[in-house]
Amino acid sequence: MDSPCTVRGMSTPGQQAPAIETEGLVKVYPGEVRAVDGIDVRVERGEFFGFLGPNGAGKTTTIRILTTLLRPTAGHARVLGIDIVAHPERVRRRIGFAMQTVALENLATGRENLELIGRLHRVPGPELRSRVDELLELMGLTAVAGKLAGTYSGGMRRRLDLATALVHRPDVLFLDEPTEGLDPQSRAALWGELARVNQAGTTMLLTTHYMEEADRLCGRLAIIDGGRIAVSGAPTELKRGIGSDDVNLRLATGTNDGLAGQQEAIARLLEGFEPVRGLERTADGVRIAVVHADAVVPELIRRLDGDGVRVHGLTIAQPTLDDVFLRYTGRRIRDEQADRPLELGW
Ligand SMILES: Nc1ncnc2c1ncn2[C@@H]1O[C@H](COP(=O)(O)OP(=O)(O)OP(=O)(O)O)[C@@H](O)[C@H]1O
Ligand SMILES: [Mg+2]
Repeated sequence: MDSPCTVRGMSTPGQQAPAIETEGLVKVYPGEVRAVDGIDVRVERGEFFGFLGPNGAGKTTTIRILTTLLRPTAGHARVLGIDIVAHPERVRRRIGFAMQTVALENLATGRENLELIGRLHRVPGPELRSRVDELLELMGLTAVAGKLAGTYSGGMRRRLDLATALVHRPDVLFLDEPTEGLDPQSRAALWGELARVNQAGTTMLLTTHYMEEADRLCGRLAIIDGGRIAVSGAPTELKRGIGSDDVNLRLATGTNDGLAGQQEAIARLLEGFEPVRGLERTADGVRIAVVHADAVVPELIRRLDGDGVRVHGLTIAQPTLDDVFLRYTGRRIRDEQADRPLELGW
């Protein structure tokens, strides 16, 4: 796991520069809003890197700085070794930024949109035609290439956006919430396309607040909150760092009193049982944090055999990036939590 505090020196000329490197990046908006509060990150060429964080974490601001659309208040950033403040036009030639709105969607077909963007990037004619065919194929848009882009579904539009960002063969592709608002099938399809673009050699920097998206796509990610990186590393490594699984026990009860009594009994019976790292009451039982749950569940159940504990159901959940987020920020990332009705007892 990378330390969030490590400040590495920026690469020196002569070395193969990394795809992205920032040092002490800060953005303060008018009204003293510190949207980005000292971000140090290094993304190597060919990586699929993610910024995972809740609304307002500073993800879009960071990506707008790196794509030269916004000037940082302080700090430094280089893309492919090029300083983003000193040479923004050189940076722009080498990068793609997906999710730009398609300009002529009601007047032009998917193919025409791609050709237009290609000409803006001065891609030579014959090369442009074959590149456009290749991208339409890669994004699964060949069959609808001759249709007006305005008639495309949400998923097709995102794929066309992605194709437009790739016309000039950028070395680094920036994606800001690429699957926001898509239905699960379109999201899964777009994940496939993004993975293929990365496998073809493009470095990817993606922002998302979907844990599953970050988990599936990113080789490494940074959890960002309040404009700072809370922790970074490979998803598997971050999850392993949590060190325990959740064992959820559903208890058979007739009355609430019965539930409370059993919860207390469980706490008592498991006292001193070494693999147990924590115990939390839930609406219908308990959640127990257990090291190597698969191996110790039989012993755990044996210990609970007594004192009127009646286990009705048991599930084991491996840690998620949400647990990682909780560990490092003290809060949950899931926005689904906000939609959940409050559980009020009466
Ligand atoms: N132009 C602006 N002027 C002032 N404050 C801004 C501006 N843009 C963003 N902010 C503030 O900066 C903070 C970070 O915003 P940002 O859009 O970078 O977050 P984000 O991580 O992309 O969030 P989301 O998940 O909602 O897209 C927020 O508090 C936001 O309100
Ligand atoms: Mg954003």
